Amino acid sequence: GGEELATVYDEALDEGFGLIASNVAEPNVMMGLMEGADRMNSDLLLQLSGGACKFAGNGDPVAGLKSMGTYIEAIAEQYDIGVFLNMDHQTDLEFIEQQIELDIPSSIMIDASHEPFDENVATSREVVEMVEAADSDTLIEAELGQIKGVEDEIEAEEAFYTDPEQAVEFVEKTGADLLAISVGTQHGVAKGKDLELRPDLAHDIRQALKDHGLDTPLVLHGSSGVQPDQLQEMLKHGICKVNKDTRYQYEYTRTAYDLYRENPDAIVPPEGVEDARDTFFNETEWSPDKSVFDPRV
Ligand code: G3H
Ligand code: 13P
Ligand code: NA
Ligand code: ZN
Repeated sequence: GGEELATVYDEALDEGFGLIASNVAEPNVMMGLMEGADRMNSDLLLQLSGGACKFAGNGDPVAGLKSMGTYIEAIAEQYDIGVFLNMDHQTDLEFIEQQIELDIPSSIMIDASHEPFDENVATSREVVEMVEAADSDTLIEAELGQIKGVEDEIEAEEAFYTDPEQAVEFVEKTGADLLAISVGTQHGVAKGKDLELRPDLAHDIRQALKDHGLDTPLVLHGSSGVQPDQLQEMLKHGICKVNKDTRYQYEYTRTAYDLYRENPDAIVPPEGVEDARDTFFNETEWSPDKSVFDPRV
């Protein structure tokens, strides 16, 4: 639940590590991630986007959340690590209310970062108030600034870096538990060369928050492909949650694709998929400091 996850973020702030938050949409990548995290003896935060919920629920996002939630809980029982669920880039307040009521996720991200500042504050605040009204321990992540690229149903053509003073005002006004910042990363596969990472800005945001007595854990979206040394630099400045969607889902899909192509006799899904799941978690490097993105195109 949210209370336990909050403890992990406290530790992350103290010790300077980041929890990998990895997107899933179906059981195979989910199982690969759990196996990999367990081998690293690391806690794991899985996340579902709105699109992933619709996909898993055959069009019904609530059904998708329930089925993936049940699946995650059942498989997580095989492991001693902490497995948590976050709702990624949520925009639908009605669906968010259902998530809080069902009490399946440990945390929810409200993404109103595309809205003007005041509306972003109001929308994010509304979600924090939902949690308070329900007397729930679900943590709320909100975003200030905008990350370039496509993530699920949200597309941003331009990046807007987060302003440190605005970050303080945003956290004070919304009461958000976590703050996603824009410091030069981008969503998706089509990135790399033009990344202009700003650990200096992460530092300034963290410092401004601290100056106002705020110890808010920061979130780095678009972390697939961020080089190990760059990531380590970011982790020094209060980044506690490292979002990766492209990295592992892409890795799995490529692995499955290669296996099916090489084995045309694999005719029922488990034949190819089980091999892919195995290859995926045997060959993928799990540690955040080994997270070099290799698109293998
Ligand atoms: O449905 C999934 C659960 O939220 C898994 O995480 O360890 O907080 O129960 P948990
Ligand atoms: P990537 O596209 O870099 O994997 O980022 C994922 C993300 O930020 C999910 O919220
Ligand atoms: Na919960
Ligand atoms: Zn994201």
